[in-house]
Amino acid sequence: MAGRKMILGMALTDGYGNLAGAWRAPHVDADNYARIEANIRYAQAAERGGFTFLFTPDFPAVRGDVELSTLSNIMDPMMQLAAISQATSRIGFVATGSTIFQEPFNTARQFKALDVMSHGRAGWNAVTTSDPAVSANYGRPVADRGMRYQRAHESIQVVEALWGSWQKDAWIKDQTSGRFIDASKLQPVNLEGEYVASRGPLAIPPSEQGQPVIFTSGGPSPHLLQLAGRYASGVIAEVWTIEEARAQREMVRNAAREAGRDPDDIKYFAGLMTTVAPTVREGLDRRLALAGDVIEARLPHLGALLGLHIEPSRYDEPLTPRQLAAAHASPMDPRSSIALDVARGGWSPRDILAHGVIDYHPTTVGPAKVHADHLQEWFEAGAVDGFWLSPDIYEDGVDAFVDEVVPVLRARGIYPEHYVGATLRENLGVPRQYGPDPRVMNGRAG
Ligand SMILES: Cc1cc2nc3c(=O)[nH]c(=O)nc-3n(C[C@H](O)[C@H](O)[C@H](O)COP(=O)(O)O)c2cc1C
Repeated sequence: MAGRKMILGMALTDGYGNLAGAWRAPHVDADNYARIEANIRYAQAAERGGFTFLFTPDFPAVRGDVELSTLSNIMDPMMQLAAISQATSRIGFVATGSTIFQEPFNTARQFKALDVMSHGRAGWNAVTTSDPAVSANYGRPVADRGMRYQRAHESIQVVEALWGSWQKDAWIKDQTSGRFIDASKLQPVNLEGEYVASRGPLAIPPSEQGQPVIFTSGGPSPHLLQLAGRYASGVIAEVWTIEEARAQREMVRNAAREAGRDPDDIKYFAGLMTTVAPTVREGLDRRLALAGDVIEARLPHLGALLGLHIEPSRYDEPLTPRQLAAAHASPMDPRSSIALDVARGGWSPRDILAHGVIDYHPTTVGPAKVHADHLQEWFEAGAVDGFWLSPDIYEDGVDAFVDEVVPVLRARGIYPEHYVGATLRENLGVPRQYGPDPRVMNGRAG
């Protein structure tokens, strides 16, 4: 534990921020969805704060009510990260790529090319796409879990084999003798599974970190744990409480042990959404100004979450002592205990929701100490190796975190002063790997 430092990543979603209505903020350029320059600025700000990676989720489809909210996805992760890689020098890139709809040869080629052109900063968040809108864009229905995970295992094995197919010392490039490559060290992989196959080799040399780092994301199902345990160096999680995170992290570490790996070779990241403001009140007001309509629509659900009836006429009054005494957290929904804690702080129902208690991930609102306390508590409880953060509004939310929260984390000795190295592997603290991991016995999924 001593000397262990927290690792931070930042989600890059739509160019605006995770707060509903971020795109409408007066200081935000509404064109940012299509402006790579904005994403470059946010990446540079995160790099200034020593962030280890940017994480791009990817659901390539038009989903939800785009009449009133944004597309919640950047245009194309690989294209955009390639551009960002040329305007940064230390921050890594964990891009989501489907094991279901991408052929492993495409994945191997694109990610290794990004790894080489970023000098060893690329990662692949390998997902088993289950979204019907995404599946429809590829002209296929959502396949069952067994098939998706079998295909995921095969895809990752083919990708890793292709990455290693250009052997480390294959490239002679001797201008005097005229020998370019030692062809005996650039040989086919000839892999064929039930769902995917590739001959290879892949004509891309090693990067400074060898090959991209593999991540995965999702809940702790036996399927996902087996996949993560065998191949992943990072897991992107969605988790609400320290207890839940600690249990999940232990499951992930055990899965790595079972696959024959060292549990420290796999890092577990919880999500956190942040609003940095001089006071909690100012933070809540910033959130209400932009997401007030979304919060208004959720108000009727808060009573259900707390087991109470709340009159709409009292949405702006703190809960009464009687209500607080009667309120109880549902054991079925970890968010309800967070809502109850906030309610006990004397906040009104509207303000309770402005704290983000029923958003997608835990939310911290207020001055630097609020954020630093949350991060430190989870980290020191052994619940995480780090976090993937979603700032409320990128335009000023990344700088605010970097300028205000990062110095507090550093002063507390739990966050690195500088980048440890130049590659994503070094900054994550995971070992070098080239080709498949020899410790992992690959068999059929299941
Ligand atoms: C935090 C988090 C982020 C995720 N990001 C993506 C993503 O960007 N794209 C995607 O297709 N799936 C994403 N997933 C979904 C999972 O990879 C997985 O496909 C989903 O949970 C369905 O589970 P199953 O495949 O085990 O049935 C994400 C899941 C979590 C928890």
